[in-house]
Amino acid sequence: MEIKRYQVMQLDITNYCNTRCRFCINDWGNADKKVDMDSDTFNKAMSLLPLIDRGFLSCSFEPTLHPQFAEFYCRVPRTGAYTFFTTNLVRRLGISEIRDLSNSNLDSINISVTSFKPEVYEYLQAGAKFDDFIRNLENVTRIFRNKENAPALRYITVVLKQNIDELPDIAKICHEKYLSKLNQFRTVFPFTPKLQIAGWLRNSITTEKQWKKAVKKLKTLPYTMGYFNPLFAKADQYTREKSVNEVNSYFQFRADGQIIMHEKNKDLLPDRFKKDFNINGISNPYQYFKKGLEEIRKMEA
Ligand SMILES: C[S@@+](CC[C@H](N)C(=O)[O-])C[C@H]1O[C@@H](n2cnc3c(N)ncnc32)[C@H](O)[C@@H]1O
Ligand code: SF4
Repeated sequence: MEIKRYQVMQLDITNYCNTRCRFCINDWGNADKKVDMDSDTFNKAMSLLPLIDRGFLSCSFEPTLHPQFAEFYCRVPRTGAYTFFTTNLVRRLGISEIRDLSNSNLDSINISVTSFKPEVYEYLQAGAKFDDFIRNLENVTRIFRNKENAPALRYITVVLKQNIDELPDIAKICHEKYLSKLNQFRTVFPFTPKLQIAGWLRNSITTEKQWKKAVKKLKTLPYTMGYFNPLFAKADQYTREKSVNEVNSYFQFRADGQIIMHEKNKDLLPDRFKKDFNINGISNPYQYFKKGLEEIRKMEA
């Protein structure tokens, strides 16, 4: 099947975080030196959006820590790409930053919440202050409610033994109080570093039976929900990777401008994408990626 656009650009405007969630996908023990994306690099990323289906405009680290994060997101153009970012909403945000976000062209903002019980929330999302989170959430929802065409608010809850009984309440609170368009409940990724060693995370994941029972209960509720189960699903059911003979055209765009094509079988890629490269070494990124797309189509034909 001919690909019309690159499937996903997974961009991160920072490479660090202000909290240390116990289930985090990142191995903070090996954290890199802090990097904030510079303005030109962000503009280069934005120039690629017309070639992309879905722009994850931050999903691995904490974008609100970037000193210009709200201003950056105001620059996102409408191009037909679905755009969003994911945040823990923990740094105390200014009202003008929230207004900027409400005026942006983003399609949605994902907000992570494990619990509305302060002690459970602060235990699972170590380093986050529940009061700061709620203060931000109240401000965001007040401002977004009064703004036509503000980005949709979606919520992500990582499901563990500590919060599994609270999931119906989380869905209810998010939908009835905090403008949720969708609550996604998910198990942890099987490749989470802390899951590879015996310890807290291994003891805190639920069984598959508990997960299925919780989903069954959630499905009886009158809310819009999504279920993402990478832990118990087979790898090819949750990754966006296609068969080994089909290119997935999914690439990572790091805060320092490094581009990494997520293709298991690099033979499916044109030469220009076989090795990682930095966008700042490319004189016209849009043309470079457009040509790459044409080359992928030719190889597929
Ligand atoms: C890696 S975080 C980065 C964005 C931001 N710092 C946050 O937590 O919202 C992106 C999303 O993945 C979720 N997440 C974190 N660790 C995970 C894991 N091990 N498995 C699955 N999802 C995870 C978070 O709850 C969050 O909703
Ligand atoms: S807020 Fe996000 S990036 Fe930070 S520790 Fe938690 S899950 Fe990881």
